[in-house]
Amino acid sequence: MRVHGFLSLLGVFMVFSRADAVFAHGVLRCLFTSTEDVLYLEQIYFNKLLLGQYNSTLGKYTGYTEKAHEKAEALNKDKKALDQEKIKFLICKFHISWVLDKISKPVEPTVKLTLVEATGGRHPNMLVCSAYDFYPKLIQLSWLRNGKETKTDVLSTEELSNGNWYYQIHSYLEFTPSPGEKISCKVDHASLKEPKLYDWELFDESERNKFAVGGAGLLLGLLVFVAGLIFYKKNSVGRTLVPTG
Ligand SMILES: *[C@@H]1O[C@H](CO)[C@@H](O)[C@H](O)[C@H]1NC(C)=O
Repeated sequence: MRVHGFLSLLGVFMVFSRADAVFAHGVLRCLFTSTEDVLYLEQIYFNKLLLGQYNSTLGKYTGYTEKAHEKAEALNKDKKALDQEKIKFLICKFHISWVLDKISKPVEPTVKLTLVEATGGRHPNMLVCSAYDFYPKLIQLSWLRNGKETKTDVLSTEELSNGNWYYQIHSYLEFTPSPGEKISCKVDHASLKEPKLYDWELFDESERNKFAVGGAGLLLGLLVFVAGLIFYKKNSVGRTLVPTG
């Protein structure tokens, strides 16, 4: 696990003069590159000039002007003040572990394939491969037609942030259905040891069953309708025949 560069959790406080101009401000930072490399840094500035700081690695205060130096020396003898800083360092470290844990654990996407009607394209249908709730952001979706990767008639969205560390992405394949063709969406992500295939088979068993059930239902409906029609005709003919006969 490697985090490039520094991430910092930042706290800022300011002191205003009567003229409402900032003359002093402090910056409290939790800097880290890993759970083992955490620095809690507290800095006081006066008119943007660094007066003094507490550095958790050093474990003490440092003053950069004569007055600040005196103040730092006094604080360095103050066990209570130093203990307070140590607690703040531990809180900083605790939060960093939590953040890094989130960053370092890849979360596998939930993948869904859906068939929709294409609008205005060269093909009547469109397959949508949607990957939801994955982490980290980097992911690759590709399409296979009968095992061969295809790049034509493919459109993809960017990775969209859900705002909760997780992402989603959608890839679209426009196509003209041909019976028996196997179309798959290939997902490559840090959470997977190897790319995972999600298959869409046209007229596969479940589809065929659906068609069979649908067909039988249609036939039954038609039979009932025809029988009803014959029954109705017979009856109405019978009635009209009575007055004439
Ligand atoms: C904090 O102290 C460590 C150890 O002396 C030093 O290496 C580091 O540069 C200091 N950081 C800052 C921002 O002064």
